[in-house]
Amino acid sequence: MLVCSFTGAGSRSGMRVLSRSFPFTMKHSDNRSSRHTSRRWVSVFVLLCCGAFNSAWAQPVDARLRMKEAATQPTLAESLKTLGRKAAAVCANCHGEGGTSVSPLVPNLAAQSPAYLLDQMEQFADGRRKNEFMQGMIKAMKPDERAGVAMYYAGQKLALPAPVASPQVEQGKVLYSRNCFRCHGTDGAGSETFARVAGQQAGYVAQSLKRYRTGTGPRVNELMAANTKLLSDADINALAAYVASMR
Ligand code: HEC
Ligand code: HEC
Repeated sequence: MLVCSFTGAGSRSGMRVLSRSFPFTMKHSDNRSSRHTSRRWVSVFVLLCCGAFNSAWAQPVDARLRMKEAATQPTLAESLKTLGRKAAAVCANCHGEGGTSVSPLVPNLAAQSPAYLLDQMEQFADGRRKNEFMQGMIKAMKPDERAGVAMYYAGQKLALPAPVASPQVEQGKVLYSRNCFRCHGTDGAGSETFARVAGQQAGYVAQSLKRYRTGTGPRVNELMAANTKLLSDADINALAAYVASMR
């Protein structure tokens, strides 16, 4: 706790939170009590540094840290998942019971990489990825809830019908095996770092690829922009059909 730095944007916003949360300290600070007050300020700062509060700028680190801790603590993992399952009740309206979506433009969350899910939730919360509705809901969630929701959905199985073969799916397979497999895996299952794409909703995949390709708009990512810029709409639709058919 002694390594805390009080410089930079983080501590400035910390100060603002502090003066909102502790107005009583200001009122009592006359000459006689100023030494006492400054000691109180120091202890408040130490508490802030130790993460004894949840401010917007502290959340991303906290949620990732909690997920990391849960990897080696089964009891913590279970309690976070229980918390996550409860918080996910509202998400089921769109993402489906257990995270298999029934709407072509809403992604499945089931069986997705937990680190990827949490990363995307943080992107919505801080506005890097844009969706007004999701942004509001995820911003309102506590770090433990964010970690818990990601872990809960990652642990669910996809409930999808058997895939249907088609020439378009075959064309998509050829395109996928040229490049996409390098990051998303031959089976599309992704990894700790890269998203699972296998079984993802075709409409959503096509929309996402087109968004990456433009390099501007509601979803921007350099790696995906580089890997989509030469694709035609027909390529993208074929890739989406193939990815959605992977099991
Ligand atoms: C009103 C419908 C709706 C609700 C409710 C909703 N979502 Fe979403 N969610 C979407 C849509 C649509 C997208 C795709 C957004 C886009 O790419 O433009 C999405 C995308 C996501 C993604 C990104 C998935 C990926 O594969 O990249 C995550 C994570 C997510 N939502 C989490 C949640 C969580 C957690 C909740 C509940 C707190 C929630 N959503 C509630 C509609 C919804
Ligand atoms: C060099 C690594 C790399 C390659 C190659 C790559 N991707 Fe990605 N992909 C990523 C990363 C990183 C993300 C997450 C980007 C973000 O945060 O929005 C991603 C995201 C995606 C998503 C969004 C997943 C979701 O749930 O919203 C889809 C779909 C996708 N990639 C499909 C493809 C396809 C199809 C190809 C081949 C044309 C491909 N990717 C090639 C790294 C890669």
